[in-house]
Amino acid sequence: MSVDKVKVFDKATNAKILAMVENIDESRWFHISKLQKGRGVVNDTDAYYFKCKDWSIPKELKELLFSLAPKFEPFETSEIVINRYLPGGFIPAHTDKDRYLKNVIVPLQSGDDGITIEDTFYKDEAGIGIVFNGTGPVHEVKKVKDFRYTVIFLIG
Ligand SMILES: [Fe+2]
Repeated sequence: MSVDKVKVFDKATNAKILAMVENIDESRWFHISKLQKGRGVVNDTDAYYFKCKDWSIPKELKELLFSLAPKFEPFETSEIVINRYLPGGFIPAHTDKDRYLKNVIVPLQSGDDGITIEDTFYKDEAGIGIVFNGTGPVHEVKKVKDFRYTVIFLIG
């Protein structure tokens, strides 16, 4: 299968957002060590990553991200989440919750890390979003080598 990709941040904007994300106070990040019930499709549902939830994203950054959200008329971006993986961080195979019509996952760095969708690995490309319809296909983030940030736009 192939996934849709969409350019969300140009190079300069991506760098600006990454700097702002790196500056988010530690108290705004939530450590996730288990997949939420109903999401895992593997027996081992341990996870290791950090989430900055919609309401904990600093105001200036949140406004900037909403202004840059990819458009899928007539739907609107309802929520934005930022994920942070430390080296060794991961999220096991799962599908997303079905509350939204589309999820767009935008890495803030290029590199050897990325997302595995079904059996295909998609290397991170800074500013380029991967579009999921609804819960999307089964996907996972295998243990990352470097710090990895993704901005997730929840649409509809
Ligand atoms: Fe997901």
